[in-house]
Amino acid sequence: MATQERPAVDPATAREVIDPQSYADWDPLLDTFDRLREEAPVAWIDSGDDAVHPPFWLLTRYDDAMRVSKDNSTFLNNPRTVVFSLTEGIEFAKAFSGGSEHMVASLVTFDAPIHMKYRKLTQEWFMPKNLRTIEDEIRAIAQATVQRMIDAGPELDFCKIVSAPYPLHVVMQILGVPEEDEPRMLTLTQQMFGGSDEDLNQSGMKDLPPEVITQIVAGAVRDFEAYFAKLTAQKRANPTGDVASTIANAVVDGAPLNDRDMMGYYIIVAAAGHDTTSASTAGAMLALAQDPEQWAKVKADRSLLPGIVEEAIRWTTPVQHFMRTAAEDTEVGGQRIAKGDWLMINYVAANHDPAVFEQPRRFDAARSPNRHLAFGAGAHQCLGLHLARLEMRILFETLLDRIETVELAGPPARSKSTFVGGLKTLPLRFIPA
Ligand code: HEM
Repeated sequence: MATQERPAVDPATAREVIDPQSYADWDPLLDTFDRLREEAPVAWIDSGDDAVHPPFWLLTRYDDAMRVSKDNSTFLNNPRTVVFSLTEGIEFAKAFSGGSEHMVASLVTFDAPIHMKYRKLTQEWFMPKNLRTIEDEIRAIAQATVQRMIDAGPELDFCKIVSAPYPLHVVMQILGVPEEDEPRMLTLTQQMFGGSDEDLNQSGMKDLPPEVITQIVAGAVRDFEAYFAKLTAQKRANPTGDVASTIANAVVDGAPLNDRDMMGYYIIVAAAGHDTTSASTAGAMLALAQDPEQWAKVKADRSLLPGIVEEAIRWTTPVQHFMRTAAEDTEVGGQRIAKGDWLMINYVAANHDPAVFEQPRRFDAARSPNRHLAFGAGAHQCLGLHLARLEMRILFETLLDRIETVELAGPPARSKSTFVGGLKTLPLRFIPA
């Protein structure tokens, strides 16, 4: 029998769940998720201030997160996909987009039937069969990146020199963006995803009000749009077989994509494709730098690498949440959910559920099975999951060949972000092989 009551959490906990700073501090947040999973696994998060965010259900249990992810007809991605759709942000997005609550229209903001039609346009691109054809290209990028690391050594910020530029370079090659434009793409995606973090949003200012953060994100979107409008014209005149050419020349239901949908497609691939993999790559390196024995073991036995990559993706969970809206009255984990209610699939909480992952905060390279939810599940499951794993494996193969030992050279720091997050600095000291 589903309970009708709404087990609301106290306002301080509610604010902690949506405060970007909590995701920079991480451990106390994991404590809170553990507590909620015990006390109210489907908890009503209402920080009491509608100007900050509309209230929603927070799911902290793996099984509930999985069920909601897989049921794409009861739980829709529309109308709001992430909680940084602050109330002001929503109003701003409507004004900006001509009525939609999404600043950008993309795969993650579509539901059936249009979602699958759009997803199919590029799906083949990201399948293992096609990725095998670009493996050598990715390896060359990994080798050049590790060479830059060695040249910059013996002490450096791994995020700045390796984990941020490497996946960016790979996804830009796949997309078909020229190398000289990559710094601009990096700034823009960091502004979009790290809007609340003073280092990533490029403002250098702490605790900006939500409306200013929204303006920064909107500025990044506008700049992306201007850039990709030019790229579309080029790829229509001269298709070059890359993902941008596929998008620029795509036809859905007999018509080319409109400008907004096309821009959204470029932006999701450009943005989703690198900050995420950067975060899991940096996390894998942190785990290995803290465990010299593990580094030596995998150096001697590369068959351990896929397990390390998978565990790093779980342990870091770079995409920290996505939201769903109930299409009808329903029930989750014994809690009654009303039509129109908003729900947060918190992948961080799900991937730290002790019912599924023993000692979840421990980095366990031998964890098996490791059915984490970091890539989501169901119709929206990450399009780039094979690419992310491949990129990480190739980079670490190269690092293990060329680096003898690594250790931490200072405290790492996480970014302030409720959505895509992870390490923003990882000071390392290393000895080349
Ligand atoms: C969607 C995580 C790398 C492209 C997603 C989702 C998650 C996610 C959680 C939403 C899933 C859901 O709603 O069920 C990650 C993580 C990555 C990563 C943790 C790295 C470790 C990539 C890469 C690409 C990519 C390399 C390459 C382009 C996408 C796209 C979507 C998506 C296009 C939207 C799919 C849809 O809505 O149909 N990702 N991602 N991601 N990801 Fe990734």
